[in-house]
Amino acid sequence: MKLPVSLFVFALLFSFLSATSAHTHESFLRCLTLHSRNDSISEVIYTSSNSSYSFVLESSIRNPRFSTPSTPKPLVIVTPLVVSQIQEILSCAQKHGMQVRVRSGGHDYEGLSYVSPVPFVILDMINLRNISVDVENSFAWVQSGATLGELYYEIAEQSKTLGFPAGVCPTVGAGGHFSGGGYGTIFRKYGLAADNVIDAHLIDVKGRFLDRKSMGEDLFWAIRGGGGASFGVIVAWKIKLVPVPSTVTVFTVNKNLEQNATKILHRWQYVADKFDKDLFIRVVLTGANSSQEGKKTVQAAFNSLYLGGKDKLLPLMQESFPELGLVSEDCKEMSWIQSILYFAGFPSGQSLDVLLNRTLTVISYKAKSDYVKNPIPESGLEGIWQRFYEKEAESAELILTPYGGKMSEISESAIPFPHRAGNIYKIQYLVYWSEEGTAATESHVSWIRRLYAYMAPYVSKSPREAYINYRDLDIGTNNEGNTSYRQASIWGTKYFKNNFKRLVHVKTVFDPTNFFRNEQSIPPLSW
Ligand code: FDA
Repeated sequence: MKLPVSLFVFALLFSFLSATSAHTHESFLRCLTLHSRNDSISEVIYTSSNSSYSFVLESSIRNPRFSTPSTPKPLVIVTPLVVSQIQEILSCAQKHGMQVRVRSGGHDYEGLSYVSPVPFVILDMINLRNISVDVENSFAWVQSGATLGELYYEIAEQSKTLGFPAGVCPTVGAGGHFSGGGYGTIFRKYGLAADNVIDAHLIDVKGRFLDRKSMGEDLFWAIRGGGGASFGVIVAWKIKLVPVPSTVTVFTVNKNLEQNATKILHRWQYVADKFDKDLFIRVVLTGANSSQEGKKTVQAAFNSLYLGGKDKLLPLMQESFPELGLVSEDCKEMSWIQSILYFAGFPSGQSLDVLLNRTLTVISYKAKSDYVKNPIPESGLEGIWQRFYEKEAESAELILTPYGGKMSEISESAIPFPHRAGNIYKIQYLVYWSEEGTAATESHVSWIRRLYAYMAPYVSKSPREAYINYRDLDIGTNNEGNTSYRQASIWGTKYFKNNFKRLVHVKTVFDPTNFFRNEQSIPPLSW
């Protein structure tokens, strides 16, 4: 049989690529075992011929959209036990042309920590998750492979009045989360996780083990909010713990459209960023069934944490947001660590041990983000409701997180995370689906893109800002080969505004050959 020329060229290229990647990965493995200073490395190397390979790969995949038979898989996964093994992985990967994807908690929204279009190895930090808390001096060292749940658990084991301002979901990894900012229920009082990092340990492209002093203030600045994966492998973070009262109060008040949700939400936009710093009220919007047979509605859940007792919260709410109609029965007093379980959705009375569980029920999703600087008029909100009535929105939600407080006091350039004063709130758009196949993916992704297009007049402009930890490849990507500053600025200025320039400068100094890269990593100049 005669093959058409194009097919013949493709077949040739394919067999060449497979042969090359097989060769690459074999020489990479030989290099690792030959140069390993530590015999145990063979115990933590997984290739597709290893029976645990799929388990190790999938155990930290949080978005099944990137775990299909056609998703490119790593040639090798290594789960280092000690720092020297990270140095060996980096050295052998550079010698043998393997790309490295670093994974801590695996929550990257676009799967960048475990998927790559070129032959790659996953450097999985799961075994490097030690946490040591110093209560007397209010700090902790956290290795990047630890989850937020593990961190909160360790803090609570040792103190009832210390906490840390990081994210809501306990399975998120410290590695990616702190390097992209990291916010949670007490960020209006204390800022982001990255604002509270005071030292770090990093392995750079040359394999050097650096701390804050030896890496210098430029690189230390870049890793606190500049996004993971561009500057090196962050092994551990030293964080400042913050005081929390022994009693906090939580509430969730639900209002649907028949209960005046549009007007109450409209009003929330005028007060949410101006509340006392101790008060955080976010809003979670979902579609729901109306009380009228066969009709749909939208539900707004006003979901709050107050750093204090309800005796103080109730008069505060009466004064600043009476429209919500909060009453004593809505409020639950508890410890700060119990509020972590409450926000993570665990039932009351649940043991703290659940924070140590790294497994998460996973479902495919696509997310996007926006910043709101002026209140959206009621007519604008009503347009959002219309989109909730579409069939793809069955499992969609919008999470509105209020800014203000400490977030407005920190300068835009203090760390790379630039979204500070002037923001009323951030919107996270999420759409989930359980159906398999590309048709379901396409229709849900298309729904969220339509909603995003609709929102353009109501949100930040020039640039339309986005949160790096809510990774979104729709807003721009690097080329697979060289990426110009100009091209990367398309997405870079949305995540980092003017800080993007400084990030590129730091990258050019510390990783000029662009070894640490992915679809949205900071490119060096002249790359
Ligand atoms: P993952 O391991 O996928 O890493 C993310 C990125 O960082 C990748 O590019 C990776 O290569 C890189 N990276 C990871 N470890 C590194 C290391 N040690 N050194 C260098 N680079 C490294 N955010 C938030 O601010 N507040 C919140 O409440 C939540 N809640 C939340 C819930 C759920 C269910 C999800 C899926 C996500 C969130 N997030 C969040 C977003 C979260 O902060 C973001 O996805 C983080 O980047 C996840 O960090 P992981 O280490 O888990 O991801």
